Amino acid sequence: MALYALGDLHLSFQADKPMDAFGKVWKHHERKIEKYVNQTVGAEDTLVLTGDHSWGRKLAECREDFAFIERLPGHKILLRGNHDMFWDANKTERLNEAFDGRLFFLQNNYAAYREYALVGTKGFTFEGPFYLNRRGSIIGWDEEREEQAKRLVDREMRRLRLSFQKAEEAGYRKFIMFLHYPPTNILEQTSPFTEIAEEYHVTAVVYSHCHGESRFGDSIRGDFHGIRYLLVSGDYLNFRPELVLP
Ligand SMILES: [Fe+2]
Ligand SMILES: [Fe+2]
Repeated sequence: MALYALGDLHLSFQADKPMDAFGKVWKHHERKIEKYVNQTVGAEDTLVLTGDHSWGRKLAECREDFAFIERLPGHKILLRGNHDMFWDANKTERLNEAFDGRLFFLQNNYAAYREYALVGTKGFTFEGPFYLNRRGSIIGWDEEREEQAKRLVDREMRRLRLSFQKAEEAGYRKFIMFLHYPPTNILEQTSPFTEIAEEYHVTAVVYSHCHGESRFGDSIRGDFHGIRYLLVSGDYLNFRPELVLP
């Protein structure tokens, strides 16, 4: 039994969204997902998909993408990404009823893996616009957007706290924390997300969303304050699922 994670499948079996436009790594990326997940993940393993599953805007437009995900081996747990328009955070229970026994949607709840609770939410990071000087150093940013970002971070923190609380009430003391957005933005050393991770002494923080060589280093990777931070964006991993826990 093992716990794996992979993010940003960006499937488009029904939507007209060829991913090749985003670089060589995305060429037939669905074939790589199928191949590598089947090579790595066993039927008894758990695979957390950390958001941006489908380009479909409504559930009916994601049907084939979900069928693809369902065919992958292991227990599949899905987190919300910024592109997952089919998923209204307040209606997660409906999704869990509709996909009962096939897929689990992680939002305002938790999932169990051995003695660990898998908790999470989409998260949020302020991504600018930043103003640069001639040398390319950041000298300012859009403050109105920054205010808006703070509200979104607050909302996501409420959702994340609820996920932790439910797991704690059920008796869990060990946690793996999943986010779609990176835990910090390019200006931050810490954030409310790193603080809650430390408050609950989580074993690992797993996130994705960062695409392309130039963005992979946007946030924390490796050990920070005793917590392991893992970036699992599909293109970062060339679509090979990352081992989170054996
Ligand atoms: Fe993405
Ligand atoms: Fe994303």
